[in-house]
Amino acid sequence: MKKIILFADTGIDDFIALTYALKNPEVDLLGVVSGYGNIERKKTYRNVEYLLELAGRTDIPVIAGATRPLSGDEPTFFPDIHGIEGLGPINPPIPEERYANRSNFSKLFDLIKNNRHDVTIVNVGRCTSLTIAHYLSPEVMENVKETYLMGGAFMEPGNATEVAEANFYGDPIAANYVCQHVANLTIIPLNVTRNALLTPGDVDFIDTRSDSPLEAIIKPILDYYYEVYQQQEPGIAGTPQHDLAALMAALDIDGLHEYKRREVKVAHEGGFAYGQSIADFRPGTSNCFGPTCTSIALEMDQDVFVSNVLDVLASRG
Ligand code: RIB
Ligand code: CA
Repeated sequence: MKKIILFADTGIDDFIALTYALKNPEVDLLGVVSGYGNIERKKTYRNVEYLLELAGRTDIPVIAGATRPLSGDEPTFFPDIHGIEGLGPINPPIPEERYANRSNFSKLFDLIKNNRHDVTIVNVGRCTSLTIAHYLSPEVMENVKETYLMGGAFMEPGNATEVAEANFYGDPIAANYVCQHVANLTIIPLNVTRNALLTPGDVDFIDTRSDSPLEAIIKPILDYYYEVYQQQEPGIAGTPQHDLAALMAALDIDGLHEYKRREVKVAHEGGFAYGQSIADFRPGTSNCFGPTCTSIALEMDQDVFVSNVLDVLASRG
């Protein structure tokens, strides 16, 4: 069983990753760091509280992450994709006083210190909170076993701009820091996660097997997300589960992803390339070694993905 701390900006695909983490017996979810990204931090924090309540898991701590990128700029949010509240048509009925009393990074550091060399971080939002954790306490963060990131786009277009993926574009300074300084780093980029599709048929199957309040909201939320994607990319066969593909990478599922190892940089100085992830895949280049070398997923087996997701999300009990 893997001990995982999820850094998220919940968000529809973050919600599916969180639900999978809660349902998969291979995952021991130690905590969730909730920062700005798809929507503002106040809402992502509230959403995680709400989802944990639906799951009957309010024992899992929610830690307040960042509210804006390291540049200090105002963040851009994406209500057009994730809905005003971040969960499509759902308006979480949680009173403000519940989410005003937030845990801070001391809780995060306690979780890591109490599980030395046994914690996997999966970061599926902007890299700001993760970078701040490394800035604040490198001594504690060096006890993290490994880190997985959903972010970047290699050799294919981005989604935030022609070249930049949303998590890296949202805070390229932080993304560049993580890529250059965090040890045992694995990136699951957009060129892979855009193939992590759940079709309406998959969602209907999950819905027929739903037996909890948390599972009951999967279908309305993913039906909403499907309509959004049909407008953005007419004809797409389903909804891309970016964050779930990154979480699953941390579970070493046989045959799911294939990797190459490269040094990664993120353009963060403005201009057309702002937020672009860069690695050297020119012909003749090969895998790198060393502490700042990153594993980058370049392929994903869709059959393995769907079959594992259905096993977990449609399981009962
Ligand atoms: O580019 C996709 C990523 O941006 C996902 O993590 C999504 O939730 C948003 O944060
Ligand atoms: Ca996300």
